[in-house]
Amino acid sequence: MPLPKAELHLHIEGTLEPELAFELAARNGVPLPYATTDDLREAYRFQDLQSFLNLYYELMAVLRTERDFEELADAYLARAAAQGVRHAEIFFDPQAHLSRGVAMGTVVEGLWRALGRSEERHGVSTRLILCFLRDESAESALHTLRAAEPYLDRITGVGLDSAEVGHPPAKFREVYEAAAALGLRRVAHAGEEGPPEYITEALDVLGIERIDHGLRCVEDPALVERLVRDRVPLTLCPLSNVRLRTVDTLADHPLPAMLEAGLLCTVNSDDPAYFGGYAGDNFDAVHEALGLGQERLRELARNSFLAAFLEDDEERRKRYLAEVEAYEFGA
Ligand code: HPA
Ligand code: ZN
Repeated sequence: MPLPKAELHLHIEGTLEPELAFELAARNGVPLPYATTDDLREAYRFQDLQSFLNLYYELMAVLRTERDFEELADAYLARAAAQGVRHAEIFFDPQAHLSRGVAMGTVVEGLWRALGRSEERHGVSTRLILCFLRDESAESALHTLRAAEPYLDRITGVGLDSAEVGHPPAKFREVYEAAAALGLRRVAHAGEEGPPEYITEALDVLGIERIDHGLRCVEDPALVERLVRDRVPLTLCPLSNVRLRTVDTLADHPLPAMLEAGLLCTVNSDDPAYFGGYAGDNFDAVHEALGLGQERLRELARNSFLAAFLEDDEERRKRYLAEVEAYEFGA
């Protein structure tokens, strides 16, 4: 039995495995510039975040109907459950679909068909987080939030993703204020490729409650001190960092030092179809490459539930935390 954990940094479009991409391409009559799934996998050699994003957006073209989004999410939830995920907070990128003529309702209702049945089917509770593309305009983000208003009963929070450098958090001040006024929780990618200043800005200007990645905080000791003091969770994605060359090798990842410093770190998969592993694979990888022992792994799992947006269901959080404490490695 795998260690119970929450996954808090997961782009649903990044769970599109080559086999499903080909199936949906055929079903929807969408041409793909790859002959086989092996050809497509050959393209999974990334130099940086942008080279990944190019393929990520290209492949999304196969997602067209509610059924497509349902199958995508259901396949992820099945895989996540098999790796011990008990709770998943799932990002989606509506602007990447709206721009292709796919309606907000198609995306949200499709995802919801899977998420709404996830507990009974997979034993995984879920939350949905709408991400704005930071390389699009602030006006487009506001428009996207307005388009999501009819579906807010299904959406827990907002996030910020896509190409980071050159698109500082403050660009999105207004839309984050609007999201807060609607009662939405707030997260943002910061300090993946961008500098530590973007992390500070996301906290101060956007009022974010959790940092996605946040890796580059280690370059600023005063920021680390602040994150430790305020118990601000970081959703790290070790295999993603290797594939996007944010770190040279997994053995160079600062996770052990970050835990040692007292940061509230969590381990997540980001875009598992592209980066070589789901949540449990990321746990296994940091165990093997970084020598994190059982109590550190338990700490990471505990942190994931502490950092989850479960304030509306504290009983559930307690149950999950009890599962973590009772877990016997190797049993
Ligand atoms: N970083 C930024 N944007 C993204 C990512 C990521 O790792 N995955 C999908 N969109
Ligand atoms: Zn991400």
